[in-house]
Formats: sequence, C-alpha cells, structure tokens
Amino acid sequence: MRVSATTDSPLATTADTVAVGVFEGEDVAHDHEGALQALLSSGEARRSPKHLALAHAGGRRFLLVGLGERDAFDAERARVAAATVVGRARELGTTALCWEVPHHVGDPVVAGLVEGTLLAAYRFDGLRAAPDEPAPPIAELVLSAHHDVSEPVETARVVAEAQNAARDLANTPANLLTPTTLADRARALAAEHPAISVEVEGRDGIAALGMGAFAAVAQGSDAEPQLIVARYDGSPEGPLLGLVGKAVTFDSGGYSIKPAASMAEMKFDMAGGAAVLEALGAIAALDLPVRVLAVVGATENLVSGRAMRPGDVVTAGNGLTIEVNNTDAEGRLVLADCLAHAVDLGAEALVDVATLTGAIRVALGRTYAGLLADDDAWAEELLRAADASGDLLWRLPLHPEYAEQVKGTVGDLNNAVEGRMGGAITAAELLRRFTGDVPWAHLDIVGLAWDGGKPYAAKGATGFGVRLLVDLARARAAG
Ligand code: BES
Ligand code: MN
Ligand code: ZN
Repeated sequence: MRVSATTDSPLATTADTVAVGVFEGEDVAHDHEGALQALLSSGEARRSPKHLALAHAGGRRFLLVGLGERDAFDAERARVAAATVVGRARELGTTALCWEVPHHVGDPVVAGLVEGTLLAAYRFDGLRAAPDEPAPPIAELVLSAHHDVSEPVETARVVAEAQNAARDLANTPANLLTPTTLADRARALAAEHPAISVEVEGRDGIAALGMGAFAAVAQGSDAEPQLIVARYDGSPEGPLLGLVGKAVTFDSGGYSIKPAASMAEMKFDMAGGAAVLEALGAIAALDLPVRVLAVVGATENLVSGRAMRPGDVVTAGNGLTIEVNNTDAEGRLVLADCLAHAVDLGAEALVDVATLTGAIRVALGRTYAGLLADDDAWAEELLRAADASGDLLWRLPLHPEYAEQVKGTVGDLNNAVEGRMGGAITAAELLRRFTGDVPWAHLDIVGLAWDGGKPYAAKGATGFGVRLLVDLARARAAG
C-alpha cells in the first residue's frame, strides 16, 4: 500500500473513499452538500466508537465513523477506528482511501490511523493457489490534515510494514520458514540498510562458541540451527541495546512431546525472533541514532535418534550446567545461551522477546504480555514504550524463592520446575542466571503473538513486539 500525507482536502486527492471521524458532542468538520451531517441527524451515523455509516457526495464515497469521546481517543482507538474503516472499505471495493484527520489530534493518533489501516489490510495469502478474496486490495492511503503530518505518517508506515513482515514470518509454516530462511531474512535487512551488519553461525559455530544448551535443542533436527547476530550502528556512541529473540521455527516439544492439538500452531514459536529482526529493520529505516545488537537463536525442536533426552545435562556457554528434565522447555535453553552471548558481545541493556510459556497466557490472557526484569529503571523504560506503542506489558515479580526452584538436582539448574505453579516466573529465573550484571528484561509473549483478537490483527500472527521495540529505541534516541 502506498502511504502519503497531504494538506490538500480529501476531495483534491484521487481517493475513491474518504474516511471521516466524528467525536461525541461534535459535528462533521467538513461536510459535502450536507450529506454527512444529514446522516448524523437521522441517526444512521453515530458518534460512538466503531459505528459506521456510508454516504455518497462529490463523486466520492464517504465512511463516517464514530470516534467516541475526544479525550479518550488515543493511538489505540485510532488503530481500531482505522481497522473498522478498512473492513467496510474492502467490502466496498475501495482501492484508494483517504483519511480526513480529525482536527486537533496529536501525532500518535495520526500514526495510529496509519498503523491500523496497514495492519488491518494485512493478509497472509501467498500460499493459496486460489485466493478466496477476489476484491482488489486497498493500494493507496492518504492522510489529509490541515498541518503537515508527513513525519508521523512515514514513521507509522515503516513500523506497521515491519510489524506485517514479522507476521509473515510467523505465519509461514515451518517447512517453509526454517532457521536458514530466517537468517536469509536478516541478511536481506542488512542488504537493504547499510547500517545493519549480520553474522550467522551454524551448528559447528554454535558448538565452537560453547553454546551447549542451544546446541542440545538443535541436535534433534536435520535443519541447520542458526545463531543470527545483527548489529545496527546508527550512532558512534551511546549504550549498546541488546535485543534477544527466541526463534524456534517449530516446537514439537521433543521427547516431552506436545499433544497433537497444540502442536500445529507451534510454527509461531519464532515470533520473538521475528519481532527482534523486523524491529531492527524498522529502527534502521528510521535512521534512529542508537546502537543495537540483535541476537536471535533459530532452531527446530524435534524428535530423532539424536535428539536430547529428558534428564540430559547440558553445559551452557557461561559454564553453568542445566538438567533438561523437560525437552519442551527448550526456549529457555536457546535463550540462556543467546543472552550470555549478547553480554559477551557488549550489550549494556538487554531485552529478550520469546514465546516462552503457556503459563503466561493463563496468567495474563491476551491483553498484556509478561514483563520480568531485574532492574526497576529498565522495567519502567519498557513499560513506557509499551504504553506508547500499545504493545502492552504487565510486570510480574522475581523472588529468591522462585530462583530456588530452578536449582538442579545434579546440575546447577533445571529447565522445568515440577508442577505448573508460577511457570512464567520460574522460566525467567533461569534466564536471569545468564545475563550477568547487565540490566535485563524478559518479555513472554505467548498470549499476544498469535490470535491477538485486536480488530487490526485478529487472527494468526500479530507481530507483537515490533512497535514496542521500535518505540523503545525511539525514546532512547530522543534521550
Ligand atoms: N513454545 C512453548 C510455549 C508456548 C505454549 C507457545 C503455548 C505457544 C503456545 C514453550 O517452548 C513450551 O513448550 N513451554 C512449556 C514449558 C514447560 C514444559 C515448563 C510450557 O509452557 O508448557
Ligand atoms: Mn516447548
Ligand atoms: Zn517453544
């Protein structure tokens, strides 16, 4: 979709459909032959959120959408309003859409309209021989405002396209999205952005680095695991932000095998790694003056004659030994080595993003992803980015009593605490042993990464975390 901003009126654009929002207690700002106000007066159009009415005037189609209370209208409501418009516009065969930006709204709302449109228009249909939606896609979006909104429009376009790219990766089935194809995506980002450089290690390289926990997960699969290290140098100085992603391209559970019903969706177990890579691409596209190190551990978790067994003890890169009492708790094995590697490579603040535990979905559902952190200031910074981006986080506690539970019986640590109590927290307690003295935050995104239920990303992969990580970098760039 082409996206642009204009200070021309919607009627001066080539859009076939114009979206106009109305707040409670207000009237249409720019009417056309009285057609819009008439819809409001008759009650066919309403000011309540998500209500839609259709009018024709000036040779265009108008979609009048309720925005609710002006004071409550934030970026998230803007995304939802935009998604509502996209749903109807597609039915109507819209190919060029213009949003008339409501008067006196800030940049976040403008950005929300763009993001909501691009995210709601997203389809993952590249694998169908016979597409079931013959309607032409919306090819053009124009934001019309009295003042210049090109900056928030362009930023939002970059971020939403990155989020959609992350959705593509997570929606792609595991036979087509392997560790190697994920590494290819990282190389493609580097080819596109000169400030990104990428280095990839395969099975031998991972073993040579001593990453025995990561290697143990990978040993059951013929697919070559990939340790993807990408750097973005947008500034000669400033702290090195370390982004670490879990990218298990398929998680069968290994010998602690998953039930059939919950296995098919395990292609999205690389959603954290996808969010990290695509956020890095967006950060580069926006030329943000920051330094970022991305470390993504990509592997399958399969069953074979070479696969790790429950009870195996593996040695991680930092020397700690881990008893694998459950091969389905593979994500923490991969992440443990990747976090320690990011520390070795000089990361000065760490965030990892991972579909780590089903327990987080039980605890927080699909509204908040879990945040676990060992540094209050760093946690606050992430919570601010969460609020700014709409990728919401809720902080859960760490505590020595949880840490006690991840102690091993024969090794230093165990990878799965018996029983299901506090499962998201005990997973984080294991990770914490691999982050040294570097401020660290862990995002457990199982509940948010798939079937998010949001009007702009209801089904399949959501791309959760991309907007959050970009906003984190934007806030750092702004100082
Ligand atoms: N990839 C899963 C987490 C997951 C669960 C993602 C449900 C999406 C939906 C992870 O590797 C896993 O299997 N975690 C186990 C840990 C347990 C064995 C300690 C879990 O949550 O059941
Ligand atoms: Mn698992
Ligand atoms: Zn997993």
